[in-house]
Amino acid sequence: MYRKLLVIAPIFTLIVVVAGAYTRLTDSGLGCPDWPGCYGQWTAPDTAAEVARAEQRFPDAPIDSFKGWVEMIHRYLAGTLGLIILAIAASAWASRLRKPSNNADTVRDAHWLATGVLVLVAGQAMLGMFTVTLMLKPAIVTSHLLGGMLILAVLFRMAVGEFVDRGAVAIERAARLAPWAAGGVALVLGQIMLGGWVSTNYAALVCLDFPTCHGSLVPPMDFEHGFHVLRELGEAPDGSPLSHEAMTAIQWTHRVGALVITAYLGTLGVRALRVPGVRGAALGLLVLLAAQVGIGVLNVAWLLPLWLATLHNLGAALLLCAVVMLRFMVSRPARSASNARASYGAGGYGAAISDASAHASAGVTATGAASSTRVPRLPVEG
Ligand code: HEM
Repeated sequence: MYRKLLVIAPIFTLIVVVAGAYTRLTDSGLGCPDWPGCYGQWTAPDTAAEVARAEQRFPDAPIDSFKGWVEMIHRYLAGTLGLIILAIAASAWASRLRKPSNNADTVRDAHWLATGVLVLVAGQAMLGMFTVTLMLKPAIVTSHLLGGMLILAVLFRMAVGEFVDRGAVAIERAARLAPWAAGGVALVLGQIMLGGWVSTNYAALVCLDFPTCHGSLVPPMDFEHGFHVLRELGEAPDGSPLSHEAMTAIQWTHRVGALVITAYLGTLGVRALRVPGVRGAALGLLVLLAAQVGIGVLNVAWLLPLWLATLHNLGAALLLCAVVMLRFMVSRPARSASNARASYGAGGYGAAISDASAHASAGVTATGAASSTRVPRLPVEG
């Protein structure tokens, strides 16, 4: 059951994240003026009677049935995801409590990661509510976008930990890339935040040329107002309309972020291509990076068609998964004490590690696949 849920959860999260992007990009975020219901009912008002009732209860909120449905479908999808995550956490804890003596990292990681993701999803529900009640403040909507991506990253990490075998990875060479891959995860999350800031401030089309912006590589910009966090949508903190220079600063910073990410992940990906066992993950990362940058540029050139803006969000989600995957592939497998004891008898865990290190420094893989001398397979943590 737990393993089945771990397959379903990241795919379902991807659907919820993209549905969230569609909700934002079609301006359906306020399709329902209340939360958790929509004009006081559990579906968007559709029939004449429902519309009349809704108008009476919410006279200041003009009704758009399509937007109401988009918003409610997103909420129901997100609610279902919450239940899936609850089931994963319950199952991971049940497994932990059934086998308290098992020190395997798989089990330890799983129930804490599941608890973390449960907390994240509860926070997401709160942010979803504030999105509506605080009238789409850019900081709230951007945090909601980032929260969805974080949930995706953690669930994806749990799934690859459970299903992906690192047996063929040349661990010593791969491990040198681990801190760089962790930096890559942080950079992609930062770039997603900047992208969300562009989208929620409607700064996508503030300059239509590329790579220049208003014909210049460094146009006039106002960072102070552009990156003032707590303000209303489209307004400077004093309530005046957000200036063109402030919007330019937002768009320009996302472009510079893309440049930094391309250089960083490009270098990391090319280096990872040379490490046996990691090539597939590295190639996936490089392809998704190129696609995402291309889609970003086309969004500007083609004046942001809805399908392409939604695809840019999907591209960001997949790029995040790719860098999480690479991080997993290059990190050192942890050893399970109980399994190590079973394999190594009285020598136990320590013997397993020193034996593995000796072989690894001689250039073998975690399973000894590339070696003429086979070492016993170490349990690989999730
Ligand atoms: C690896 C690089 C990139 C990542 C990870 C990334 C990520 C994102 C994300 C997550 C969003 C928010 C989408 C949403 O609201 O759902 C966004 C928005 C945007 N990005 Fe990027 N982006 C990248 C590169 C680029 C590049 C090179 C451009 C070219 C100028 C670009 C242009 C835009 C624009 C115009 C928006 C606003 C779209 C809107 O308002 O709907 N992005 N980006």
